[in-house]
Amino acid sequence: MSEINFNGRVAIITGAGAGLGRQYALELAKRGAKVVVNDLGGSRDGSGQGTSAADKVVDEIKAGGGEAIANYDNVALVEGGENIVKAAVENFGKVDILVNNAGIVRDKTFNKMDEPTWDVVMNVHLKGAFCVTRPAFINMRENNYGRIVMTTSSSGMYGNFGQSNYAAAKLGLLGLVNVLKLEGGKYNIKSNLIGPTAATRFTEDVFPPELFAKMKPDFVAPAVLYLCSEDCTDSGMVINAAAGYYSRSAIVTGPGAILSDGVKIPSPEDIKDNWKKITSLDNPEYYYQSTDMFKAFAELLK
Ligand code: NAI
Repeated sequence: MSEINFNGRVAIITGAGAGLGRQYALELAKRGAKVVVNDLGGSRDGSGQGTSAADKVVDEIKAGGGEAIANYDNVALVEGGENIVKAAVENFGKVDILVNNAGIVRDKTFNKMDEPTWDVVMNVHLKGAFCVTRPAFINMRENNYGRIVMTTSSSGMYGNFGQSNYAAAKLGLLGLVNVLKLEGGKYNIKSNLIGPTAATRFTEDVFPPELFAKMKPDFVAPAVLYLCSEDCTDSGMVINAAAGYYSRSAIVTGPGAILSDGVKIPSPEDIKDNWKKITSLDNPEYYYQSTDMFKAFAELLK
């Protein structure tokens, strides 16, 4: 088995001062990457800021013989994203790897969801991915190489009570990756998503203590490292990782039902009578891009 290494590679990890991001940064550095450790240093809900979180991880990397610099910019600002990428380019010459990991939570049921609570979560996760990825993507295009990992969540893929802002942002990242995988294709830029489950301050009140103890971020890092590596040539995938279990999630389309000869318009009753067939997920199709879906429709309707 050939060993995956990141010698000569430059990686940006956002929110790398704690939890999952810290683990990715340490492991990438151990395998040779030069790492920009970004972290605003705030609390779980995004309030406050400080430099010590990122500094500590940089110190750990350096103590282990690796190379890293700290950055304290806010991913939710265009200027913040530009500064993070500038830090990579000015110190290490380029960006090969970007892991958009920074995140906060502000849970409220939807009837109580106010605009500031909605915006702050969308801004860190979804706009933050735009702010950091765009300048990084431009640099990757110039170098004809890039590996981008975004962080999604089962909250977005399946729903989680009280997390409408977070769920919408997390699934929005899948839409972003679906386009980046196409636009980065000819430049060897691969974009994928990690769906982690791990014991961090994010989840300290979610899992019972015996489960929490087993969910070390260490188990998620190998999947992220593979997605960041030259060896990974897939793009557009969602990889779930938790405590030694790894799987893929995807949006798929069921076989459906043809209810018209293309002339007669079906009635709402026709939809009702065929609901089971319309909603069946037996033998689903995965489409790499939306035009593949249109082609399949055109074929079916012939
Ligand atoms: P964490 O709270 O330990 O780490 C998140 C880091 O992001 C913190 O160090 C924080 O200071 C930093 N951060 C927050 N806002 C920032 C900003 N605007 N700019 C720069 N840095 C910022 O949480 P954890 O669990 O490590 O989360 C990492 C990612 O994984 C997040 O995107 C989260 O949504 C996602 N996630 C985590 C799960 C879990 O089971 N722990 C489950 C699903 C998703």
